[in-house]
Amino acid sequence: MIKKKLGMLMLVPVVGVSIFACATASEKAISSEELSYRNVPLTVNTAPPPVEFPKEPPGQSKRFVRAYENAPPMIPHSVEGLLPITKDNNACLGCHMPEVAKDVGATPISPTHFIDFFKLPEGKIVKLENLDPARYNCSQCHAPQAKTKPLVQNNFKPDYRDPNTKQKTKLYKNLLEGVK
Ligand code: HEC
Ligand code: HEC
Repeated sequence: MIKKKLGMLMLVPVVGVSIFACATASEKAISSEELSYRNVPLTVNTAPPPVEFPKEPPGQSKRFVRAYENAPPMIPHSVEGLLPITKDNNACLGCHMPEVAKDVGATPISPTHFIDFFKLPEGKIVKLENLDPARYNCSQCHAPQAKTKPLVQNNFKPDYRDPNTKQKTKLYKNLLEGVK
């Protein structure tokens, strides 16, 4: 009786191993062409397709619709001479700080950039006197949008709960959404 049971137990791992072996053998290897969006092997050095960034200077470009509700807006104007942002020079502030933005027709920096995000988990909205230093490097989150043909079609369709958020952030109004 004991002998018979042992025999059954021995069988289980053997069957398991052979199923696993079959699965790996039937998997198709992926070629390096298939791995690459460029449709050429990864070993071939091809130049990426040329992209055209906006040439219109600030004040003459057209804002883009936000990719989704409360998405960081893409930069619609040329950034020539404005980047890189350094410790001592941030040209973006000269037009986008709330106190000047209206006069130059720029979108004022979002109110969320003047809030201490570390206090949010406590359910508190603590306003800062100055721009949060974590927001100083604008181009870390806001990038110029190039005119390109997508390599892979994106079927994502944003669902704006408020149609105004196609053009404007509303995040500061619902920052504590879902925070208890
Ligand atoms: C000379 C003033 C000026 C400077 C400097 C400037 N901007 Fe702008 N920005 C504008 C104006 C004006 C607009 C609105 C579109 C237009 O009229 O060209 C704008 C639009 C934008 C938008 C889109 C906002 C929206 O509502 O969709 C973003 C993002 C942006 N700028 C980011 C930046 C960043 C980042 C920098 C620094 C690299 C910068 N801007 C420097 C004036 C400026
Ligand atoms: C850490 C990422 C991050 C950095 C850094 C950052 N932003 Fe933003 N920004 C966002 C996001 C996300 C939004 C949209 C949601 C929100 O309002 O916070 C936004 C929104 C904005 C808007 C739209 C405001 C509106 O009314 O619709 C402007 C303009 C803007 N940022 C400018 C700037 C400028 C200028 C800087 C640099 C001084 C900067 N941001 C730095 C992430 C960032």
